[in-house]
Amino acid sequence: MASSLRASPQGLKTVDQARIGKGWDRQSAAWADAAKASVATLKRFWQKKYIQAQFFIDICAVVGVHWQEIVDSFVNEDWDEAPDVPVFYGRMEELATLQQWIVQDHCRVVAVLGMGGIGKTTLAVRCVEQIKGEFEYVIWRSLTRSRSASTFRHPPSASDLLASLLFFFHQKQDNQATLSQLVDYLRQHRCLVVLDDLDAILDSAGEGYEGYGELIRRLGEERDLPSCLILTSQQKAKEIVLLEGHKLPVRSFLLKGLGEAAHEILNEVELT
Ligand SMILES: Nc1ncnc2c1ncn2[C@@H]1O[C@H](COP(=O)(O)OP(=O)(O)O)[C@@H](O)[C@H]1O
Ligand SMILES: [Mg+2]
Repeated sequence: MASSLRASPQGLKTVDQARIGKGWDRQSAAWADAAKASVATLKRFWQKKYIQAQFFIDICAVVGVHWQEIVDSFVNEDWDEAPDVPVFYGRMEELATLQQWIVQDHCRVVAVLGMGGIGKTTLAVRCVEQIKGEFEYVIWRSLTRSRSASTFRHPPSASDLLASLLFFFHQKQDNQATLSQLVDYLRQHRCLVVLDDLDAILDSAGEGYEGYGELIRRLGEERDLPSCLILTSQQKAKEIVLLEGHKLPVRSFLLKGLGEAAHEILNEVELT
């Protein structure tokens, strides 16, 4: 399990004193090197952004500060096979809407729908990166393929998925993982769970996959659940159709082509 940490404003003052003692600038390459981090990571540290726990700990340690004294908050993350999104164009309105639904409106299930290749996975990654600070746990599961494109594997059965989610939360193997245990956890902790490419199980609709529908239904119907499940798929699961509504905590977002943004991007490229 990986974690990301972020410094508190007061904590940064402590680190500032310590680095002056060392004679280092805030973004000194020597400091980054000593912590085996990049200068970009060091910069993010100073911006109070989340960075990987190990970098955070080392950046503090090499100036003689104990990380626990200066940490503001942390997120436990497991991104599994989510793709990296180094370049991201447009989609500002879409991001704002998803953020509004998840953070302000406390939606419990949000489905991002659209044709294959339209940008659902990419948008979900960027959205989660933006809002993860609001959650204690962030967990991403891709239901189709592993990162190495050649190795296609079957989507996990619902009980395998439950076991894998509970393992992430508890850090212990549980052969009897039940949906109720998971829901209890999602009720007690603010978790953001992403199931990318739900089509994989909607298509296979076979034995072992019915539990996915139950998971969506339970989360959609559960009261006062601080957690959120994001789904991406081309088709809308029937549980979403039954539970969704503009003012309800279950919503779906139909993603369209980049449209105007595509023109803007082209213009920008041509003008620069
Ligand atoms: N907003 C965006 N900015 C830059 N690249 C994008 C954007 N949206 C999608 N892409 C690119 O388009 C391709 C397909 O996007 P993806 O998110 O995988 O689509 P989907 O999940 O809907 O099938 C990917 O290579 C991705 O990098
Ligand atoms: Mg996708």
